[in-house]
Amino acid sequence: MAREIRKVGIVGLGTMGSGIAQVCVEAGFDTVGREVEAGLGEKARERIEHFLGRKVEKGQLEAQARDDALARLSLTTDLADLAGCELVIEAAFEELGVKHDVFRELERAVADDAILASNTSALSVTQIASVLERPERVVGMHFFNPAPLMSLVEIVRAERTAQDVFEAAYDFAFRLGKEPIRCNDTPGFVVNRILIPLLNDCVRVLDEAGVSVEDLDKALRHGAGWPMGPATLVDLVGIDIHVHASEALYEKLREPRMAPPPRLVRMAQAGKLGQKSGEGFYAYDRD
Ligand code: 3HC
Repeated sequence: MAREIRKVGIVGLGTMGSGIAQVCVEAGFDTVGREVEAGLGEKARERIEHFLGRKVEKGQLEAQARDDALARLSLTTDLADLAGCELVIEAAFEELGVKHDVFRELERAVADDAILASNTSALSVTQIASVLERPERVVGMHFFNPAPLMSLVEIVRAERTAQDVFEAAYDFAFRLGKEPIRCNDTPGFVVNRILIPLLNDCVRVLDEAGVSVEDLDKALRHGAGWPMGPATLVDLVGIDIHVHASEALYEKLREPRMAPPPRLVRMAQAGKLGQKSGEGFYAYDRD
């Protein structure tokens, strides 16, 4: 069923979607990014331009390669404009209802043999696919934040995913220069099943051990070889995103460690969302 992938659609150009779009255009794929408002799409383009520009400044990319990559990106607010894409990766808001609306509309827009992938981190891919006439074309492609820097992609086999769709998604991630792994559609897949309760434990230790945020980060960097400390990481992921993912996993697994620590819930409620809001465990310059 699966055709060769030449043109890719990305639905949702937030942190993850814009990062995935960057990876696609850098790898040479024509990419159509869809956002609900044109201004949000433009913001994503600026973000991609900024990061590619930094690579040029640091001698990691030729100026021509940057220009070629940017020229491969087109933006739209209309899902119908993804009609010619052989693969669409959805990175929209993590609500089942939102995903269902997007996938239903996508199924009407794209060719019968196009692959529809979800970047969901905490929802069931099987459940997302359940509203489609052809659920066998749906697969999970879970990227990690920041998508241009993190090489892992979890390729998630939902209950009805066709084998050729699964392998095509795996090959595509490989062509993006990533390190894909194959896994089943279980809550949190592989990494989040482990990382989310671990990060929750780190936050609980903050209060229990009377350690400062800086020292907690120092502890995990120097005592466990983490590239960044847990507080910095949760700030990067987004406190709201982390709380939402924790709640979704807790609902499914009922393991107390999966539940978000009250301290994180309070931060999310107060709008302390981490890097993106300028305030989380640390303060950030938003310019
Ligand atoms: N997009 C694109 N480029 C980015 C970027 C982004 N979001 N953020 C930074 N960059 C670029 C910048 O241009 C930066 O260079 P500059 O500061 O000079 O402009 C450059 O990348 C930095 O690259 P380096 O390789 O030098 O970065 P580091 O060595 O500091 O490593 C890191 C950064 C790879 C993020 C490392 O700290 C790391 O591995 N951290 C852990 C991240 C992690 O665990 N992520 C997983 C989160 S869980 C998740 O995503 C699951 C989800 O479902 C919630």
